[in-house]
Amino acid sequence: MKKMLVTGGAGFIGSNFVRFVLEEEHELEIINLDALTYAGSLENLKDLSDPERHTFIQGDICNRSLVDDLLNRYSIDTVVHFAAESHVDRSILGPEQFIQTNIIGTYTLLEAVKDYWLVKNALPLEKVRFHHISTDEVYGTLEPDDPPFSETTPYTPSSPYSASKAASDHLVRAYDHTYGIPVTITNCSNNYGPYQFPEKLIPLMILNAMGGYPLPIYGDGHQIRDWLFVEDHCDAILTVLRLGSPGETYNVGGDNQPTNLTVINTLCEIMDECLPESAYVPHEELIRYVTDRPGHDRRYAMDIKKIMDELGWQPRQSLETGLLKTVEWYLNHPEWIEAVKEQTNYQDWIERNYEKR
Ligand code: NAD
Ligand code: TYD
Repeated sequence: MKKMLVTGGAGFIGSNFVRFVLEEEHELEIINLDALTYAGSLENLKDLSDPERHTFIQGDICNRSLVDDLLNRYSIDTVVHFAAESHVDRSILGPEQFIQTNIIGTYTLLEAVKDYWLVKNALPLEKVRFHHISTDEVYGTLEPDDPPFSETTPYTPSSPYSASKAASDHLVRAYDHTYGIPVTITNCSNNYGPYQFPEKLIPLMILNAMGGYPLPIYGDGHQIRDWLFVEDHCDAILTVLRLGSPGETYNVGGDNQPTNLTVINTLCEIMDECLPESAYVPHEELIRYVTDRPGHDRRYAMDIKKIMDELGWQPRQSLETGLLKTVEWYLNHPEWIEAVKEQTNYQDWIERNYEKR
């Protein structure tokens, strides 16, 4: 039985990964370490296919004695590290927690696995892996004619969030290079899908459209992102764990580069079709242009040839099919929306920032 420590497994991507991997891997036990910040919720972990193989521990990745204890107690051979502060806008308002969790937290995990796997020699090195989840935002922004980001694109992060992720990537590579810890890294593009906290673009737009609140477009809305359906991302991570080579980095993306305006217009059309009786049809009338985000990256695009050619992974969802699945999931899970609103001050935040039509 493999023993996997998943950090941040009550967040958006982490909880999807826990659900996905329990279904795909039957000889695997998961220890899920998550601090349950505003972005994490046990609501995301209901209805796991095999809950006996999942143990949830509420705690901070910066707590070294806790991490040491978990590695030893459960004989952890694989760490899949999602835990992070993940929202660019919050990093602009207050970077400190991003430095703490994303940099110090990653450093703490690396020190702990170094001690357990190398110094204590607890497990054969060929049987262990530290997999780090990172972002395309470490590569900075692209001009319209630039080629997409590849795994060798130099790092030029723009926001406190992406700078903190870049620092954590460098630490992970340094622990491989200096100490020989077997690591892999995936740098993925913008994820979307079920269980995403509704502060990021797509779930914010869906919830605001459902409630008749404005759909805020930063700047001119011509910024470009590559959108990756979360289940495709989970599949890519599992593929890298199974087939990827230690020391390697793999870019993961959804093979699409729409402008934010295209994404929001497509979402509005889907909402019109799914909610024909809504008082807010046509939903595009809720769109409002608002002040741009400071330092807003103009364009991200991912070259995903390496993971496709070397490991045989490819995204299954197009943007249209993924967005439809996502809208349907939010419409079919009002209890999840209510629980998340109750656990956080979400509704107050919406009402402070957005005026209902
Ligand atoms: P999220 O914000 O939804 O979840 C983060 C989780 O980490 C939460 O459950 C939170 O409680 C937990 N956490 C935060 N601080 C912690 C700490 N100190 N100790 C333990 N747990 C802590 O994030 P997400 O969108 O699921 O992103 C997961 C990872 O993927 C992050 O590393 C992020 O940088 C990366 N990533 C995300 C995206 C995206 O589009 N969401 C894109 C690229 C990369
Ligand atoms: P976001 O989901 O915050 O992800 P990231 O900043 O990591 O790419 O934002 C995606 C894009 O949508 C980004 O260009 C900013 C833009 N955006 C808006 O136009 N309005 C919004 O309300 C939000 C949250 C984002």
